Amino acid sequence: MSTAGLEPQDVVGPLIRPRRLRRTPALRRLVGETQVHASQLVLPMFVREGLSEPAPIPSMPGVVQHSRDSLRAAVAEAAALGLGGVMLFGIPLVKDATGSGAVDPAGILNLAINDVVAEVGESLTVMSDLCLDEFTDHGHCGLLSTDGQVDNDKTLAAYAEMALAHAEAGVDMVAPSGMMDGQVEVIRHALDAAEFSGVSILAYSAKYASAFYGPFRDAVNSTLEGDRSTYQQDPANAREGVREALLDVAQGADIVMVKPALAYLDVVRRVREAVDVPVAAYNISGEYAMVEAAAAHGWIDRDAAVLETLMSIRRAGADVILTYWAADAARLLAR
Ligand code: PBG
Repeated sequence: MSTAGLEPQDVVGPLIRPRRLRRTPALRRLVGETQVHASQLVLPMFVREGLSEPAPIPSMPGVVQHSRDSLRAAVAEAAALGLGGVMLFGIPLVKDATGSGAVDPAGILNLAINDVVAEVGESLTVMSDLCLDEFTDHGHCGLLSTDGQVDNDKTLAAYAEMALAHAEAGVDMVAPSGMMDGQVEVIRHALDAAEFSGVSILAYSAKYASAFYGPFRDAVNSTLEGDRSTYQQDPANAREGVREALLDVAQGADIVMVKPALAYLDVVRRVREAVDVPVAAYNISGEYAMVEAAAAHGWIDRDAAVLETLMSIRRAGADVILTYWAADAARLLAR
């Protein structure tokens, strides 16, 4: 009697060949698990008070601070490309301690929302960054108490006012990004009380204190000294990111966001599995700048790297991606 047991050729049968499904482009397309569509992409855009021509942002080659006119033209193009939306950031001429330009109906962001909605109507979802950092002279996302700390609850009142200003200007979706506790709840109540219950909230829920925001600080002429570690999250904490997202859903967030994207793909995945609302991820300025800088040196294939980056964020579980490549990616995807 043989005691040798089965030889390998007896047990494995035909060799299992995953490569069969990679043989042709059509097969690969057929079995692709993840897709990136223009409709899932949101283009963040900067508009600066007082500009008559767009101004390039050196650390973000290809991205500009728009004038009001150039913004209108660019959003019309975004709509024609079939993007999901635009996220507007305003840069006022004058910053002050309370960020008063943020709530002024004639403040740059409120005017820009109005312009953009007039230009694109309902063909594009118009979103606004709801935060004070572009408007305050100290550069923090909130109001300071006398000891120089960011005062959570005083800031909430300012956010409520800002939400109403954006809603009056016609925005579809406000995006609170200041990481104050309770911001979604306060904004939801303010909107509902003013009969803006149709304005939705995209919450920057799990927003980390990240070094990758560097180029953005140029983009909005930030005056911040120090950092945002007392309100933005510690990069060590993934479980806490899920907690923040769940809190925002409970407070009425329509979409929750993880930011940055690439160094936090595990958080994107965990949040996707924990909530039943759409999940967004913000492919931020530093992530953009790294790829553009390497591509400018000829060190990577830019277009391929862009599409692979967006695919990775979708694969991690994001339904929506905010990316400075939104328009370019839409063109690449249409090829
Ligand atoms: C706050 C805000 C920031 C970004 C988006 N909203 C800056 C910050 O939190 O420091 C960063 C976006 C990017 O880096 O691309 N208004």
